[in-house]
Amino acid sequence: MAIKSKLSKIMVFALFVSGIVVLAWIASIILNDIFTWNKDIYSILFGSRTGEKISLEIGMTVFHYVVVGVLLLTLGIGAYLRYRSRTITLDSDLNQSLVIMKKQKKDTFNKNKEPILVITGLHKRYSEGKSNEVHAIRGLDLTVDKGDMMAIMGPSGCGKTTLLNMIGHLDRHSDGQIIIDTIDTATLSDGKMTSFRRDKIGFIFQLFNLFPFLSAVENVETPLLLKGMKAGVAREQAKMILRELGMGDRLYHKPSELSGGQQQRIAVARALITEPAIILGDEPTGDLDSTTSTDVMNLFRRINKINRQTLVLVTHNRWIAEQCDYIVHMSDGKVSNVEYGPFTKKEEA
Ligand SMILES: Nc1ncnc2c1ncn2[C@@H]1O[C@H](COP(=O)(O)OP(=O)(O)OP(=O)(O)O)[C@@H](O)[C@H]1O
Ligand SMILES: [Mg+2]
Repeated sequence: MAIKSKLSKIMVFALFVSGIVVLAWIASIILNDIFTWNKDIYSILFGSRTGEKISLEIGMTVFHYVVVGVLLLTLGIGAYLRYRSRTITLDSDLNQSLVIMKKQKKDTFNKNKEPILVITGLHKRYSEGKSNEVHAIRGLDLTVDKGDMMAIMGPSGCGKTTLLNMIGHLDRHSDGQIIIDTIDTATLSDGKMTSFRRDKIGFIFQLFNLFPFLSAVENVETPLLLKGMKAGVAREQAKMILRELGMGDRLYHKPSELSGGQQQRIAVARALITEPAIILGDEPTGDLDSTTSTDVMNLFRRINKINRQTLVLVTHNRWIAEQCDYIVHMSDGKVSNVEYGPFTKKEEA
């Protein structure tokens, strides 16, 4: 491509130069021969044979050179104009592409910055108005963008689980506004809220909340069946995700027959299988050993990157928190500080 354009540049230049050389040559011939014309002007003017002969010779030579020169110059100009118009077209194509690229980048940027969760002035009072009232969330503001992987840390009792329950609408908040995916959840009826929660939010609870009478694979496939997926397809997907979490040999065991870590992996699989926009995890790796924690965190990271699913993970484990993009620190029912990554990754959980 580059050689081709260089060659065409050289050809255009050569045609130009030869056209100009030929025209200069003609000019010099004309200048030289002006003397002859002067000398024989009388004969030319008065039409003597000598004058006619000389004027004819000069005329023919000049004519030939003019024809060749004009031809070369025309070719040169033509080639140059064609080259120029091609360059302009290419340039404008390139500019067009750049404009599109810039627009796409801007769109992606805007998308990246699109908030999925906006919480303003949130309050939660348990046993409101009673003597044993607990003011668990105290005017909390938080914005989480689509595709964020966020950790929430804070001392026991500061309101982390309460906050997750408010985001997941498992419990009503006392005051403030929660907007999920541009929808003010206060505007949703109870029925709409149920399907909204099912479609948009995945939970991994501190206590796993598995159905005790269902096997691992049945627990995981249930949300898909509730969404109307065909039983065979749902079963295959459930098996796939459980195998990915190292549960391939425990597919048909009931929760009571499984260890805490294995139950937790079922809870993780069940939350991820519907690909919800937001995944809320309350100590999602709390009962896992360091190897399994790493596997689960890798899975979180992968779905976060590939599907742009947002993850909000409550944890007491600094290593888990550091796998996230940023850490929101809570204290006394409010956000006290936000720490932004990337964090230096430690070897083990
Ligand atoms: N159902 C409830 N009724 C009354 N008070 C409650 C209730 N649930 C939680 N609380 C209180 O609200 C406060 C916040 O509790 P929350 O469970 O959100 O804390 P947390 O930050 O998740 O703690 P941990 O790290 O121990 O899980 C605590 O003081 C707790 O005692
Ligand atoms: Mg808690």
